Amino acid sequence: MDYRAFIRGITRAYEHKGGIKALHLGTLAPEWFRQIQGECLWLVQQAGSSDVTATDHVTNWTRPTGAVHQFSLFNASGNSADAKGDFGDDAEARKKRLVFPQLEGIRRFAGLFGSALRNLRLNGMGKSSALDAHEEQSISVTRFGTRHIVRFHLPVFTNATARIYLDDEIFRFEEGRLYFFHHGCVHAASNGAAEPRYHLVLDCFLSLELFRCLFPGHASPDAGFIKATDAASALHGEPFHFPCFVREDKGVIEGAIDYGRVAPGFLDYYRQNYPSVFRLLPKGK
Ligand SMILES: [Fe+2]
Repeated sequence: MDYRAFIRGITRAYEHKGGIKALHLGTLAPEWFRQIQGECLWLVQQAGSSDVTATDHVTNWTRPTGAVHQFSLFNASGNSADAKGDFGDDAEARKKRLVFPQLEGIRRFAGLFGSALRNLRLNGMGKSSALDAHEEQSISVTRFGTRHIVRFHLPVFTNATARIYLDDEIFRFEEGRLYFFHHGCVHAASNGAAEPRYHLVLDCFLSLELFRCLFPGHASPDAGFIKATDAASALHGEPFHFPCFVREDKGVIEGAIDYGRVAPGFLDYYRQNYPSVFRLLPKGK
């Protein structure tokens, strides 16, 4: 896959006009994945977690229902129940470290992302539980241009009733496979009346180096990460329609997802910081 084509695809999806919503990037070797499953089981039984349904949780604005828990595995406090640095801008990014460095399978997994790793959590969703439809900001602006934040999912324990919703499509993510998940799309997740579902989820700043490490068409950084081919990475979901969704800054939006969101452009940093000078220029790009 070509890096520029990927940027174009995720920018289009950010504006809710098709584009790239999710990709299957590859599969973890069975032995390594079983090791990760064992470590995650230990986390669920032994480690502290935060309750996403608590109104003061950093991601409670996504309207969770049922039982939704988060184990924060890469933060500045060393406490897996501390979710403060798992969302948005994190001033303590340089102090972050793995909370459980002794868990070798998860440490090796985090190593796939190198210094681009911004957060890593184990997200648990109980029976008949969900995160409602919401939209995040996956593009930020700096004085040097735009910066994409990219999210990845590794389903660790899942079942036939677990669903992922991205911009009017429903997907099923499979255990042991690494996925690119576009959190700039309007997205949601649900788990039915079976057993709980657990995913390792993480965010990175996108760079060409990270892209070559993880995406099809380039050598894998770890022999245990078997990359998908370009053709096998494409995902095709079932049609779905969100009647409404929530934005962190504006609350619930009724109606279609294609409401005219424009991806930030490289001039937007200056437009925001020097409004009197740049107010006459058109928005975006
Ligand atoms: Fe989200």
